[in-house]
Amino acid sequence: MRRLLIAGNWKMNLNLAKSVTLAEGLKEAAKNVTDIDIAVCPPAVYVQPVGIAIAGSNIGLGAQDVYFEKEGAFTGEISTAMLLDIGCKYVILGHSERRHILHESSELINQKVVAALNAGLTPILCVGELLSEREAGVTDAVIRRQFDGSLSNVSAEQMKKVVIAYEPVWAIGTGKVATPEQAEEVHDGIRSLITERYGKEVADVVRIQYGGSVKAENAKDILLKPNVDGALVGGASLKIDAFMGIINGVK
Ligand code: PGA
Repeated sequence: MRRLLIAGNWKMNLNLAKSVTLAEGLKEAAKNVTDIDIAVCPPAVYVQPVGIAIAGSNIGLGAQDVYFEKEGAFTGEISTAMLLDIGCKYVILGHSERRHILHESSELINQKVVAALNAGLTPILCVGELLSEREAGVTDAVIRRQFDGSLSNVSAEQMKKVVIAYEPVWAIGTGKVATPEQAEEVHDGIRSLITERYGKEVADVVRIQYGGSVKAENAKDILLKPNVDGALVGGASLKIDAFMGIINGVK
């Protein structure tokens, strides 16, 4: 049985005081949640203070990106060891905003995924099609290309630890959410792809989150679908009630 993972992607929002207040509030509000995994991914500079605020809770700490090199002259970058050092468990990789705004290639994302896995971090690997790609009927091909490109040199054993987040780009921050049927169709396709590449035993344990305008009002129907194993939440993860509404809705 796969445990749901509901993760908040705070993106480039909040400030130090608001990050810590949100983290402390979530710690209290989520203290009785035992059957769902919860994580928060603050902006890089707030990962440590948020980690301190949620210490001893059932909330996992994550980052929004990491660099693949171990250390050295890489101005502006952060290593896997640094994330582990401040208590991170998860790292979001290949988010569409990094693919499309910061022009990250699947090849670069792949290097980050491998580095994260080798270091013992759990990558939350995002894949998803643009609206034009969905309308052109190439969603499946886009997902396959991102999947294969981002996951080469990942062993079957390592793959079991990867979390995939299916995030249709047209649903991110737009208020347009995929229908539960649209989400399930792609998630089912991703699970078949995992079976093709790594076998059924691996496919059965890999968690596939949905992301894109998830909120309390729409989360439950999506999360009840058999191949949806959680949510990656942007906007609605910035308020305690909105984030807890998603969690409490499926508890
Ligand atoms: P959203 O973002 O919930 O604000 O649409 C989701 C994401 O980008 O992870």
